[in-house]
Amino acid sequence: MELAYFLTLLFTIILLIVPSGAVPQASQGSPSSTLTDSTYTSTNLSTATTSAPSSTSTSGSSSNSTSTTIVPSGPDVSGANATVDFGSNYAVLFLDYIEGIVASARANEQGQTFLNNSIRWYEAINSLEEKPFVAYSRVAFYSDQRYEVASVPWGFNLVTGGNNFTEASNNTQVISEIAPKTDDYVFLKKRYSAFVFNDAIQTLRAQNVTTVVLSGIRASGVIISSIYALFDNDFRVFVIADNVYEPEPNSVLIKNALLGEQGIVTKLPANVISLDQALKAIGA
Ligand SMILES: *[C@@H]1O[C@H](CO)[C@@H](O)[C@H](O)[C@H]1NC(C)=O
Ligand SMILES: *[C@@H]1O[C@H](CO)[C@@H](O)[C@H](O)[C@H]1NC(C)=O
Ligand SMILES: *[C@@H]1O[C@H](CO)[C@@H](O)[C@H](O)[C@H]1NC(C)=O
Ligand SMILES: *[C@@H]1O[C@H](CO)[C@@H](O)[C@H](O)[C@H]1NC(C)=O
Ligand SMILES: *[C@@H]1O[C@H](CO)[C@@H](O)[C@H](O)[C@H]1NC(C)=O
Ligand SMILES: *[C@@H]1O[C@H](CO)[C@@H](O)[C@H](O)[C@H]1NC(C)=O
Ligand SMILES: *[C@@H]1O[C@H](CO)[C@@H](O)[C@H](O)[C@H]1NC(C)=O
Repeated sequence: MELAYFLTLLFTIILLIVPSGAVPQASQGSPSSTLTDSTYTSTNLSTATTSAPSSTSTSGSSSNSTSTTIVPSGPDVSGANATVDFGSNYAVLFLDYIEGIVASARANEQGQTFLNNSIRWYEAINSLEEKPFVAYSRVAFYSDQRYEVASVPWGFNLVTGGNNFTEASNNTQVISEIAPKTDDYVFLKKRYSAFVFNDAIQTLRAQNVTTVVLSGIRASGVIISSIYALFDNDFRVFVIADNVYEPEPNSVLIKNALLGEQGIVTKLPANVISLDQALKAIGA
């Protein structure tokens, strides 16, 4: 715990000296404490804020390593140019877009692209005459004591560094760029999955939702664990690859392993689509 706290502190210092990016800063609970991706990746903080390979988008312009181009795939997606149909009972999910987590993404180009894509999707959804059900997850604990997390040197306790991740603190508020509208549903989560230990699944069912369209931060955290939970609960799952962030290190590797054509989501099988496909699907 002391080590985790030290690493958190160290990252905070690193973060503070990294110039802020082109994306406008939202009201900040300055990332003074973290449940940020830095904490998630605390095994190597030295790489946490280095700028990532610039392209994870389907539009290519890749900077090599393994291919950064995610090819849309899945049982309801036949190829990169496939027309996607969400049906009439779909929900749009924004997972973990809270200040304390997004802070680390703001500091690099890959993160800014992710945010810009997410904002485009948010604006398109909110300009629909008939909006789908829109839900947001927030990580937040009852108090700084974090009673919900066992004080043991393993498991989720390794992830939850720092303080001020309570419901009221700025760190846990949804970023202002994609702020929930009055009728949107905002729910709390205490672990990686957005769909354990809360009423989110029950709520989706109550709203007759059969299909979910996911965006979120980060691929190896809330995204992968929520996909499984949703899949196992019989939802038809679409993931917008352009709206998924994975911090360094191994960002491209991990995104490909999860969302790539040969990746985990396709093998499930669930669907991976581009932002363009998602926008077309809603007629934007
Ligand atoms: C928290 O957010 C509010 C509203 O955006 C802002 O006025 C306040 O200064 C923030 N507090 C901290 C500690 O950043
Ligand atoms: C952290 O990353 C740096 C730069 O890539 C590398 O030199 C170092 O060995 C890594 N440390 C650990 C503990 O993985
Ligand atoms: C991309 O990576 C491969 C394998 O590491 C290498 O052979 C190739 O030269 C690289 N291409 C570019 C454009 O950097
Ligand atoms: C997708 O459409 C583009 C432009 O219309 C075309 O160049 C490309 O070959 C198509 N790709 C596939 C896999 O059909
Ligand atoms: C994100 O959007 C902002 C505002 O439109 C723009 O200035 C910036 O260049 C974009 N950044 C990236 C990485 O696309
Ligand atoms: C939490 O935030 C408040 C202001 O919002 C600040 O006064 C307090 O010092 C912070 N506590 C910790 C433990 O960081
Ligand atoms: C869900 O389906 C039931 C039965 O078809 C219907 O009565 C109800 O109004 C629907 N609820 C919503 C939110 O669409």
